[in-house]
Amino acid sequence: MAKYRILSGMRPTGKLHIGHYLGALENWIKLQDEHESYHLVADYHVLTTNQDTSEIFKNTIEMVIDWLATGLDPQKSPFFRQSQVKEHTELFLIFSMLITKARLERNPTLKDQIRDLNIKNVIYGHLGYPVLQSADILLYKGDAVPVGEDQVPHIEITREIAKRFNQQYGEVFPEPKALLTKFSRLPGLDGNAKMSKSLNNTILLSDEPETVQQKLRKAVTDPQKIRRNDPGRPEVCLVFEYHKKFNPAELPEIEAGCRSGQLGCVDCKLKCTTKINEFLAPVIERRKQYENKKDDVLDILIEGEKKAREVASSTMDEVHKAMNLG
Ligand code: TRP
Repeated sequence: MAKYRILSGMRPTGKLHIGHYLGALENWIKLQDEHESYHLVADYHVLTTNQDTSEIFKNTIEMVIDWLATGLDPQKSPFFRQSQVKEHTELFLIFSMLITKARLERNPTLKDQIRDLNIKNVIYGHLGYPVLQSADILLYKGDAVPVGEDQVPHIEITREIAKRFNQQYGEVFPEPKALLTKFSRLPGLDGNAKMSKSLNNTILLSDEPETVQQKLRKAVTDPQKIRRNDPGRPEVCLVFEYHKKFNPAELPEIEAGCRSGQLGCVDCKLKCTTKINEFLAPVIERRKQYENKKDDVLDILIEGEKKAREVASSTMDEVHKAMNLG
């Protein structure tokens, strides 16, 4: 694969869960060795759906600790907050002149959010969500963005904005492509298709072994498998989905046991608990090193922001020049 400039980002909503790991972090960690990567804390994006900022700093630190604990390395790729690199807002403003309101209203990810969060009146900034995201990506001339499926429409808009800018003012930006994360969805413990903090159906990367056990004990399984000997259907069971990811070696045996009825849900869940806890043990260990040193985490961000600003300001120089501004 060619060497890409990669821009990956996440909104800081607090501690991350295993779905975040499988849907994003695992991929970011792999990519950081092969490409030039930038890791963005999209704190302004949080405001699109939640204007209460009282927890935003704490949530940022918790998220960055999870990044560090799973193996993302700030020496290889800077970590930085959107709010601390002013060029993001500057480019956002310019880009907001290069896309129509109608185009942004067609964005399916926005429509889904409006439905899921039951939003009655869409704010201006929320409509502009993908415009800010385009600025995040293009400020670093990112040519590849690792994302789950729900973000593909935003990358499409980013490409359109890049093209439009280049046509109007001259070639400055690449047209980035989405690097789709294969495993982009992990079901929640309640059987919902998505593991999500707001649905309260997660296993956190910071959950201790007993917590994981308790959470899994309550997890929903095949509703037709009531007693141990009832044959089960792994394809409808979320615990089987977790086995796929955390316990691939035992998968055939678990599938056969579930189908024949020999393996009961209690035992199946215990096996799964063990595997998830084995995966989480080193993450929790590393997490502890940073939990007592939150100032070090902030220093990592401040360092990353210096590096990010250098790239961002040089891109803005090019933008201003292309536009005859200044
Ligand atoms: N919209 C992304 C998400 O919710 C977060 C994000 C903001 C992002 N800016 C970005 C992702 C730039 C990739 C690149 O997951």
